[in-house]
Amino acid sequence: MHLSMIVVTDIFGGFSTKDYDPINWGSKEDKKHFRKITTEIGTVIMGRKTFESIGHPLKDRLNIILTTQKKENKENIIFTKGSPEKIIKFLENQKIHSAAIIGGKKVFEDFFPFVDKLYITIEPIVLENAQKLNFPKTSFKLVATNVLNSKGTIVLEYKKLSQKDFL
Ligand SMILES: NC(=O)c1ccc[n+]([C@@H]2O[C@H](COP(=O)([O-])OP(=O)(O)OC[C@H]3O[C@@H](n4cnc5c(N)ncnc54)[C@H](OP(=O)(O)O)[C@@H]3O)[C@@H](O)[C@H]2O)c1
Repeated sequence: MHLSMIVVTDIFGGFSTKDYDPINWGSKEDKKHFRKITTEIGTVIMGRKTFESIGHPLKDRLNIILTTQKKENKENIIFTKGSPEKIIKFLENQKIHSAAIIGGKKVFEDFFPFVDKLYITIEPIVLENAQKLNFPKTSFKLVATNVLNSKGTIVLEYKKLSQKDFL
């Protein structure tokens, strides 16, 4: 299973703030990038609050929504719960071999040990009272950079280093 994490932050690493509309501080170019990458990957995994803040399932992608609540699955929405290991096993049983982790905080942090690729968009803004993500120390290699617009929104693409990269 290949898991990618896709996150947009401000220049100081803040990824969320109650002072802003949850999804509208990112640039339209990043939204386009997000749509392209997640559609290529095919499956997105998100927490129930992120799903509600988006307001609808992402089209042309299988939407895996984590929640402890009982909800009815729809054509491209599966509600489920459990550990990352359980979710990964479930997807592998469905012959799904790649997925994108798209938030929020707990979902990013819980799935981080299983992620092998990061797509970090940095928007050239500062969010007030921004919340940050907490991860254990991990090494990555930068594999691509992409400037999305004239104001300088950038996407950094990282691959997680494995044991054999250190040999
Ligand atoms: N900058 C970014 O890239 C980015 C991306 C996504 C979201 N965000 C921000 O993140 C915020 C929302 O994130 P959040 O951290 O508050 O919430 P969230 O992670 O989207 O959702 C949390 C909820 O997900 C469910 N959940 C999570 N893990 C679960 C598991 N293993 N099994 C079962 N249920 C599980 C629970 O739902 P129930 O309560 O229903 O059980 C939990 O209350 C928004 O402000 C949004 O703007 C930012």
